[in-house]
Amino acid sequence: MIKKIAVLKGDGIGPEVVEQAIKVLEAVSEISNIRFVYIDALIGASAIDKTGNPLPDETIDICNNSDAILLGAVGHPKYDNDPNAKIRPEQGLLKIRKTLGLFANIRPIITYDILNSISPLKEENIKNVDFVVYRELTGGIYFGDKGRKNENEAYDCANYSVEEITRISKLAFEAAQKRAKHLTLVDKANVLETSRLWRETVKKIAKKYPDVTLDFMFVDNAAMQIILNPSFFDVILTENMFGDIITDEASVITGSIGMLPSASVGNKISLFEPIHGSYPQASGKNIANPYGTILSAAYLLDSFDMFEEANKIRKAVEQALNEGYVTIDINKKKYYGTNEIGDYIAKSILSLQ
Ligand code: IPM
Ligand code: MN
Repeated sequence: MIKKIAVLKGDGIGPEVVEQAIKVLEAVSEISNIRFVYIDALIGASAIDKTGNPLPDETIDICNNSDAILLGAVGHPKYDNDPNAKIRPEQGLLKIRKTLGLFANIRPIITYDILNSISPLKEENIKNVDFVVYRELTGGIYFGDKGRKNENEAYDCANYSVEEITRISKLAFEAAQKRAKHLTLVDKANVLETSRLWRETVKKIAKKYPDVTLDFMFVDNAAMQIILNPSFFDVILTENMFGDIITDEASVITGSIGMLPSASVGNKISLFEPIHGSYPQASGKNIANPYGTILSAAYLLDSFDMFEEANKIRKAVEQALNEGYVTIDINKKKYYGTNEIGDYIAKSILSLQ
């Protein structure tokens, strides 16, 4: 069997972390009857540099003709502090999500015992933390009307339709059914009309999933509970911007944002990427943490129903962590390079046969 993977390395540390995930996929290929064909495509600042466009049409065509997309990271500091920049790398990311209809961004918060001591939270609070955030990805304030009314006033509108809320809610309820059967809708229904529509809609959908306990939490309180009592959560369902913010917050529980993978799914093709950014200061130094991307490759294999191989990657990562194979963000005294970790995981996949 042959699977085509669109590879969007992007900016900063994107190319080097993606390279490690590809090493791991190649190891998987060696132990299975699947072959991967990788097709590189441009996105982000590197696409702007080469074509003037953060998401060239060619990239969309390549993605549409692939079985899955593996993405590194997008962003470059030369655009961050220029409020007048009309073209920005992030537009590429937003456009690919919208164009390919990737409406659900799934971000699992996984803890590893071995990393608990570097978490900023107390160890006793991290025990049993295992939750997943279903972040809506193609609606809300990110995609509503926006603009300048005049020199002194700007606006960003948040819109949601019942249809947009329903399709991700179903996925979140289905996930909850396979997990601890507890779903928390995070919103700001005491203030926002869109949040009230989310509550109304999710309450109706919940009737079809009577085995799932549904509760509601305002986002400000959720931000607090993620720190105070993270093991309360099983599945969090939330809109686009709240999901962006609380997943960065939740990522630190695990010890390093560099560890966390994500999957963005829609009706057809899915995209897999680490949740961290392009971290340009680390680019080319062989210090970036590749685990988030390697674990994203495991989710990519799940999407091909290659569950056994995906779990091999997860197992190899866990073993490597236990043996101290970590990057400098995790252990400043004893650390390995990005490349060495990629090689190590690929090698252990082969020996785990
Ligand atoms: C993310 C990122 C993006 C987002 C940015 C780069 C546009 O922070 O994937 O979480 O806000 O969605
Ligand atoms: Mn983010």
